Amino acid sequence: IAEVKGGADEGLGRVGQSLNIMGWVRTLRSQSSVTFIEINDGSCLSNLQCVMNSDAEGYDQVESGSILTGASVSVQGTIVASQGTKQKVELKVEKIIVVGKCDSSYPIQKKRVSREFLRTKAHLRPRTNTFGAVARVRNTLAYATHKFFQESGFVWVASPIITASDCEGAGEQFCVTTLIPSSHENTDTSIDAIPKTKGGLIDWSQDFFGKPAFLTVSGQLNGETYATALSDVYTFGPTFRAENSNTSRHLAEFWMIEPELAFADLDDDMACATAYLQYVVKYVLENCKEDMEFFDTWIEKGIIRRLTDVAEKEFLQLGYTDAIEILLKANRKFDFPVKWGLDLQSEHERYITEEAFGGRPVIIRDYPKEIKAFYMRENDDGKTVAAMDMLVPRIGELIGGSQREERLEVLEARLDELKLNKESYWWYLDLRRYGSVPHAGFGLGFERLVQFVTGIDNIRDVIPFPRTPASAEF
Ligand code: 4AD
Ligand code: MG
Repeated sequence: IAEVKGGADEGLGRVGQSLNIMGWVRTLRSQSSVTFIEINDGSCLSNLQCVMNSDAEGYDQVESGSILTGASVSVQGTIVASQGTKQKVELKVEKIIVVGKCDSSYPIQKKRVSREFLRTKAHLRPRTNTFGAVARVRNTLAYATHKFFQESGFVWVASPIITASDCEGAGEQFCVTTLIPSSHENTDTSIDAIPKTKGGLIDWSQDFFGKPAFLTVSGQLNGETYATALSDVYTFGPTFRAENSNTSRHLAEFWMIEPELAFADLDDDMACATAYLQYVVKYVLENCKEDMEFFDTWIEKGIIRRLTDVAEKEFLQLGYTDAIEILLKANRKFDFPVKWGLDLQSEHERYITEEAFGGRPVIIRDYPKEIKAFYMRENDDGKTVAAMDMLVPRIGELIGGSQREERLEVLEARLDELKLNKESYWWYLDLRRYGSVPHAGFGLGFERLVQFVTGIDNIRDVIPFPRTPASAEF
């Protein structure tokens, strides 16, 4: 359908051509001698209107009422200019085959339903306009991400999902457990069998073949090893956080894009983050016009204009100390305290980007070292680190990054100070021992980017199958 209707002439150049279309029935209405069937195949937001007379092959299925919303069909016909005003072309049906029937219990009827309801139907929600559009924009953002980094000379590196290290040092990790069937008579390792066989037929151990292992919270440390060999690299993969936060911006499983730049400092890092965001936003505006117009009309009015500004205007940069000043002077009561040395909460982040700076992305840099991870490079003041967060309206923190501590002695002293086990970071320290270089990188939460670009307010609605403390169904 995208191929037919996507051109500048909305399909008029194809009038007279024959076409076989396969998709799902969105609506069917009969008027005396003609039946209109709207079909969607997921290639774009638009449906293709199919017009059917009683002489079409398979018309008996319309008469017998066996074609209902949700059914999958294969339609053969000719493209004709439409009599209606809603579309330029339609399909005059010669033959229709019902591939898979659908009955009236199908939950995705034409009426509007809430996104909360659709979360309970995660297997069917991609068949709605909203979730179809989100899936296509998410796909385009992923494509644009690879395109941006590939065109800038970055090498994509696969970071592991199972790891022994806790990159952020926050202890928010899921543990990996090995289930080894100890008897050939009973190899039932299904979830239901686990409690029954715990300590019994299955050797239940809390570790990964005898050693502790976790699901990764970030691919950064692995990215650093490749950056200190291949220069600029990036990772793009799933990451996991065992934080029990039921907010509209947190998932237990989310995708992260983590570039790592060699021979680079914090300024280079911020420039890369800005160029990246502007590139992908522009790419989506140019390549997902129909879906973006849908979001602009139905989800967040004015989003196209706001994103156009993001793609074109400079981002603001601000020191953490200045950000605290702004918050202290704000004519506003916050729920969480504001004080130099405390981390910014999302209400503070949103105030800065939405109110103090009128809806522009803001990069805050040079945070107190106490509230940041061990690997960040200490600034000359001895109190702050070369860290940066990019804040955007509605979302708050979209990106977190830093220049990394490349000086062996400083890093070792920091690990000691934080009582982290130096031995387990032996390989990470080796990178500082052997040909160390200044380097920097950042992590961008991919779902927060999809939220930002589509205007969808809940993060559970921009990932196909959300994993949260409340749900990992489907
Ligand atoms: O700020 P974070 O924790 O930074 C890191 O993990 C660094 N190692 C990144 C790096 O420098 N390579 O996470 C980075 C981003 C956040 O800014 C946020 O967008 C997203 O990841 N994020 C989450 N997204 C969804 N659900 C969660 N629970 C998230 N936690 C972080
Ligand atoms: Mg962060």
